Amino acid sequence: MVYLDNNATTPIEPAVSEKMCWFLREHFGNPSSLYPIGREVKKLITEARETVADALGAMRSEIFFTGSGTESDNFAIYGIMNAFPEKNEFITSSIEHPAVIETASYLEKRGKKITFIPVDQYGNIDLEFLKKAISPKTALISIMYSNNELGTIEPIKEVVKIAKEKEVLVHTDAVQAFGKIPCNVNKLGVDLLSLSAHKIYGPKGIGSLYIRKGTKILPLICGGHQERNLRAGTENTAGIIALGEAVQIFQAKGDKDLKRIHKLADRLKKGIEERIPRVIFNGPEKNRVKSTLSFSFTGMEADAILLALASKEIYVSTGSACSEDSEEVSHVLSSIGLKPEVARSTLRLSLGRFNNDEDVSKVLSELPEIIEKLRKISGL
Ligand SMILES: Cc1ncc(COP(=O)(O)O)c(C=O)c1O
Repeated sequence: MVYLDNNATTPIEPAVSEKMCWFLREHFGNPSSLYPIGREVKKLITEARETVADALGAMRSEIFFTGSGTESDNFAIYGIMNAFPEKNEFITSSIEHPAVIETASYLEKRGKKITFIPVDQYGNIDLEFLKKAISPKTALISIMYSNNELGTIEPIKEVVKIAKEKEVLVHTDAVQAFGKIPCNVNKLGVDLLSLSAHKIYGPKGIGSLYIRKGTKILPLICGGHQERNLRAGTENTAGIIALGEAVQIFQAKGDKDLKRIHKLADRLKKGIEERIPRVIFNGPEKNRVKSTLSFSFTGMEADAILLALASKEIYVSTGSACSEDSEEVSHVLSSIGLKPEVARSTLRLSLGRFNNDEDVSKVLSELPEIIEKLRKISGL
């Protein structure tokens, strides 16, 4: 099989699943228990927290474990908006993941003012629009670091610069950036940052939110005293240990692995553009997480291509996993100005650590033929 849907989720790294199984076998204690089997688990959680903190250039006390990237986004947005009831405005972009867009819509229905910053044809947010949108009532700006459909890297440092002049907090959804581009919270200057384990070869159902020390925020989930009273519920201990391991592995692998993946992605991009006529590449050439490739194969439905590829055991996506089974056109693709019929002809190919040259060769030998056949069938 050729798996090219790493932005939807990544295969678990064997060393991560081994560590997780070891943990589940050897440690069942509740980290809140005061006796040794609880303390041991607490210690392992602390180590994982330290690993995540190191990767972000943060302090251990600034890392909070959550149940997903989605929960981290919800926690950041509700947590800040609820902590500042006197400020009722929230700013985000038009191409955020549903974890942010739907949270914004929910807030809007409950009387908050939401501003969606538009993007250009490559998915870059409009900074001038942002400057004008901020008011004394703005509590939070949330802009994703890298877009899941296009790979576009947003200018977070500039967003922070603009926000800080007006004393507004900034959150970034770094779920598609963490492990792929540097995410140092102090260099970026953000107050809050979301990440998720299953995009970095860890398990599903575990995420983290970085919250800068001193940030006023309210919990999303109330109950026990876990996560310093900000995220109640007995910890997903095995998930946390696995996240720590996944982070340690990508740090150990460093740039070399990423460069290899980027080279594969470049070869795939070039090969598709050379072999297939009337293909549109979506997203920027530069300032992109290079492993993300979005192509519109004009004149056909992407679903048909996806199924034809799947019959050859090549797995890609027609958009973000969350909008996959919806009839609606991706809000990201319509935000960059694609006509609905072009958006519907769009495939996302996202590469990862387990891809190799043979995978790229297989796609380059199968895809042009599939497109040609489908175009013939549709008479185009
Ligand atoms: C940009 C972005 N944010 C948030 C999420 C949600 O993360 P999770 O699947 O861990 O809830 C995703 C998942 O696709 C994503 O791509």
